[in-house]
Amino acid sequence: MASTTPQQPSLARPAPAAGGALAPAAERAAHDLLHLDLPRRWAHVQRVAANAVELLEDLPLEAAGVDLAVAAAWVHDIGYSPTLAVTGFHPLDGATWLTTHGWPSALTGLVAHHSLARLEAGHRGHTTALAAHPDSPGLIRDVLWVADATSGPGGQRVTIEERLADVVARYGPEDLVSRCMHAVAGAARTAEVRLRAARDPLKGGVM
Ligand SMILES: [Fe+2]
Repeated sequence: MASTTPQQPSLARPAPAAGGALAPAAERAAHDLLHLDLPRRWAHVQRVAANAVELLEDLPLEAAGVDLAVAAAWVHDIGYSPTLAVTGFHPLDGATWLTTHGWPSALTGLVAHHSLARLEAGHRGHTTALAAHPDSPGLIRDVLWVADATSGPGGQRVTIEERLADVVARYGPEDLVSRCMHAVAGAARTAEVRLRAARDPLKGGVM
């Protein structure tokens, strides 16, 4: 007798073999999880990936680091997918799904902690669960945070200030997301400074 259970092809996608490129597989996974159910989120993610590629230019990173950063940009918001949402806190749900499907901890950590997620996690009771994933401050994390903070909800390129204003307008100034976004914007500005300094240590000045 034929099963009536809907098939989820994305869930059948394995993580790349160890040492294999992450970014192309991450793009496919994000596409499968987002493009039908959440087309605006998919547009946002495409912009984040494009921004990350631009930000990575001239940074002192090995090829594996560049691959990891682009992969993180593709999958950072997969936790919004109704296919995999469990707690409703998207950084945690995305990281949990990636861990379950065999993706490397360096990637799951970037997803879990992207854009100062620990702040909102503290308000929502997810601090311990989030801490199970490694947080790795550094250039790769900075690229992801700045790429995310300069991508609008519909896929447009925005400034950090425009992104902040948009979130406050959509959620309302008193909402937890809006209050956290002020800190997220500050963290993104600091990350931008670090990226500039890494590209040109003589001109970058402030670390
Ligand atoms: Fe995002």
